[in-house]
Amino acid sequence: MKYPLLSLLALFLPFASSSAENHHDWEDNHVLQINREPARAYFIPFGESKGDRMLSLNGEWLFRWTKTPDERIKDFYRTDFDASSWKTLAVPANWEVNGYGTPIYISAGYPFKIDPPYVMKEPKKEWTTYVERNPTGQYRRTFTLPAEWKEGQTFLRFEGVMSAFYVWINGQQVGYSQGSMEPSEFNITPYIKKGENQIAIEVYKYSDGSYLEDQDFWRFGGIHRDVLLYHTPDVRLRDVAVRTTQDKDGWTLAINPQFSVYKDETGEGYQLVATLMDGSSCVGCDSVAASEVLDLQHKAARMNEWYPQRGHRKFNRMEIKVSNPRLWSAEHPNLYTLKLELKDPNGQTIENTRQQVGFRDIHIKNGQLLINGKAIKIRGVNRHEHDPYTARVMSEERMLQDLQLMKAAHINAVRLAHYPNCPRWYELCDSMGMYVMDEADCETHGLRGTLASTSDWGDAFLDRAIRMAERDKNHPSVIFWSLGNESGYGPNQAAMSAWLHEFDPTRPVHYEGAQGNPDPSTVDVISRFYPRVMEEYLNPGIPEGSDKERAENARWERLLEIAHRSGDRCTWVGSDGGPRPVLTSEYAHCMGNALGNFKEYWDEINSNPRMLGGFIWDWVDQGIALSEKLKVKNEKFATAPDNAVLYGGDFGDKPNLHAFCMNGVVMSDRTLTPKYYEVQTVYGEAAKLCGEVAEHPVPQPLPYKAKKSKKKPLPASLLPLVSSIKPQVYRAPTDNDKSFGNWLAKDWKRCGLDTLTIPMTTEQDGNEFTFTFEIPDSLPEIPRLGILIELPRDYEQLSWYGRGPWDNYPDRQQSCPIGLWKSTVSQQYVHYPRPQDSGNHEDCTMVELKTKKGKTLRIEAVDKAFSFSALPYSAQYLASKSHDYELQDQGKTYLSIDCAVMGLGNSSCGPGVLKKYTIDKTKKYQLRIRIL
Ligand code: GAL
Repeated sequence: MKYPLLSLLALFLPFASSSAENHHDWEDNHVLQINREPARAYFIPFGESKGDRMLSLNGEWLFRWTKTPDERIKDFYRTDFDASSWKTLAVPANWEVNGYGTPIYISAGYPFKIDPPYVMKEPKKEWTTYVERNPTGQYRRTFTLPAEWKEGQTFLRFEGVMSAFYVWINGQQVGYSQGSMEPSEFNITPYIKKGENQIAIEVYKYSDGSYLEDQDFWRFGGIHRDVLLYHTPDVRLRDVAVRTTQDKDGWTLAINPQFSVYKDETGEGYQLVATLMDGSSCVGCDSVAASEVLDLQHKAARMNEWYPQRGHRKFNRMEIKVSNPRLWSAEHPNLYTLKLELKDPNGQTIENTRQQVGFRDIHIKNGQLLINGKAIKIRGVNRHEHDPYTARVMSEERMLQDLQLMKAAHINAVRLAHYPNCPRWYELCDSMGMYVMDEADCETHGLRGTLASTSDWGDAFLDRAIRMAERDKNHPSVIFWSLGNESGYGPNQAAMSAWLHEFDPTRPVHYEGAQGNPDPSTVDVISRFYPRVMEEYLNPGIPEGSDKERAENARWERLLEIAHRSGDRCTWVGSDGGPRPVLTSEYAHCMGNALGNFKEYWDEINSNPRMLGGFIWDWVDQGIALSEKLKVKNEKFATAPDNAVLYGGDFGDKPNLHAFCMNGVVMSDRTLTPKYYEVQTVYGEAAKLCGEVAEHPVPQPLPYKAKKSKKKPLPASLLPLVSSIKPQVYRAPTDNDKSFGNWLAKDWKRCGLDTLTIPMTTEQDGNEFTFTFEIPDSLPEIPRLGILIELPRDYEQLSWYGRGPWDNYPDRQQSCPIGLWKSTVSQQYVHYPRPQDSGNHEDCTMVELKTKKGKTLRIEAVDKAFSFSALPYSAQYLASKSHDYELQDQGKTYLSIDCAVMGLGNSSCGPGVLKKYTIDKTKKYQLRIRIL
């Protein structure tokens, strides 16, 4: 929304915004910007070659940080202000990982006292914001205006600043903007001079905009994306939108440009020439007169043609027909280059712009999402922009790494949870082939749906949809617009949806919060979080046969049931009016040792054409690596190793939600986990079913000739070992075992499962042992049943015949073939940031441990295969530690041989374990092994 009066005031009265003593623009949901340029597609115009009219302002800036706005220096932007004693900080950078302020991890609920639109009210005394009420960063630097930038216009562009900021050039206030994840541009032409110029920026960590930014992530402040200047002529291409459509004669690229003129320019005689290139060959071209589009005289005939009194606007100012283009899809990301040359009346090119174009269309038919006429399944992940070292600052290398890893795991879609990402991400998705769900930066979790139904906030909601769609409209990778996340449902989302549908009829709209039976017609796909599959789940504490369910399971819906509903019709213009596809926009919550029954999800998704697939929650752990800067600030880390992975609460941040930010398929530094390989295998199979080539290296076991030993006498040397064998029913709770705090691990604690010995009878026949277990009725659901053998730590070399090479559980083993594997005990434990059980191997018939000196312990299954783990830590020790970096080798090798192990399930945020993967307490279990 533009506020002409305010902008005007801002021009003439540099301090107008703060004139009313108690009024803050950043605590006023009606002031979304002052003097900001309208949103537009992402491109940086150039002259001869890319970048030649751009000046990056990234790099070191003079910097001052205060806990509250009151402590800031009010006139720091003055040209005669002496900031020479200030320290410097890089742009882009987040403050908290650079020693300024406390990183706060909360999942939902706002770090400040809730009282919209205010963010400065007094919170609880123990909260971080009691002291750091609203951290404020002041930045200054100079830049030299390139000598060639004489005539024409100069723009200042911010790709992302958290969360609100003012900008001054040469002591004059230019404007204000908020919205952390959208770009803000200002025309600074009236404020700049030849040679050296001074720029000052004041950033507020919290603003009324923060009420729409209550996502489950670290609350970081600062300028976290690029800042740059660019220069244009006085007639310029301000914006361009492209669309590709298909009819019976082939494909059409439609191009809709917008121009701006300055000073006395009218655009008369200027032309935009559009040429579509396939590599270096021209595919087609078209042109349009700038003055036609500008229509400064508002000619009725022209308006009637393009913006008629009734009915839709017309889009196709220019058209390039391509009968048989190579189409774009995530599988085959074929791109063309659109050259846009703005020519002056003499035919001289005065400005160049490039856009990548992918020919593709999207439709919904018979409840399926079609890309270029072919039904797709979403094999997706949610992704936060997170780096353990740089926080929210994304480097090119990190983005490439993420995309390469995703592609290798057959992931074909990414939901930008929960905000528009930095612009480079979309270019990489276009060129590498990745479907994108672009999501508006709109989450009001801590206020549930309150603001969605408060009309006064309508503009604020809409502003975010508009800025996202305007910026990202030309990317073929973007196949959905999403209205945001967890903000209830009300007229404000309905307005966003209506705006997006009319603005861009080529893409469907998604929002998980729009629910009902049927779901509101403002969304084109049905979307749910953390659904259940149509199987029986473990229901602890509820008698068999009862129709009751534990609340932990019952709260999650069954996706397949929804796919059988008949009322969910699609009203989107791109659909056949049939049913809407059914998607899980978050599922398979990957917290810690997780991803149980991932295969069952996909069996179900593949069983019904309306099931569109899902986005795993989520791609990467949001851990912060301990750096020198953070060590200096926090004494308690003095002895912690460099790069120790930290999470919520570690910085004394309050409130916080501990390790709930660690839900990645990959670890914070992108180390792969067994979860990654499971995704790769299951998504790979799903891709093949869609006819895609989905190859990946499959782990190859070592050659093995099964030589079954015979029963023989037990060597005397093993006697002491055998006599130390104990029954074991405990594992260090995984995040899924803990759930939201009321799940299995709580029962285990209550009944002391960690130290409990259950009745076990041992029968020995030579070196053959039969252990028979009885599970007392009084026990809760148990995670394992078997024996523990404690060995000297020098039993380090490990080989086994069973599932490998990485760890696996009854409900997560698709990527683990049975065979002979070799490893070491040290490598068996998976270093999740919060210690928990890992290292299990299913379906084993042999495990052998060796010392360097050649001492060997070999265990073979007599009849039924067993599960085992061999770890340098005991279950009790793991359960007693809260951080991986606290773990110390315990001087023993803990060998667990189990006749039954419980699966992992999904209950850290989702349904529990499938009944078929749990230990049936009514059954009698025997473990029969031969010890050699
Ligand atoms: C969802 C939410 C995500 C994340 C997840 C739990 O409800 O949309 O942002 O919080 O739960 O990890």
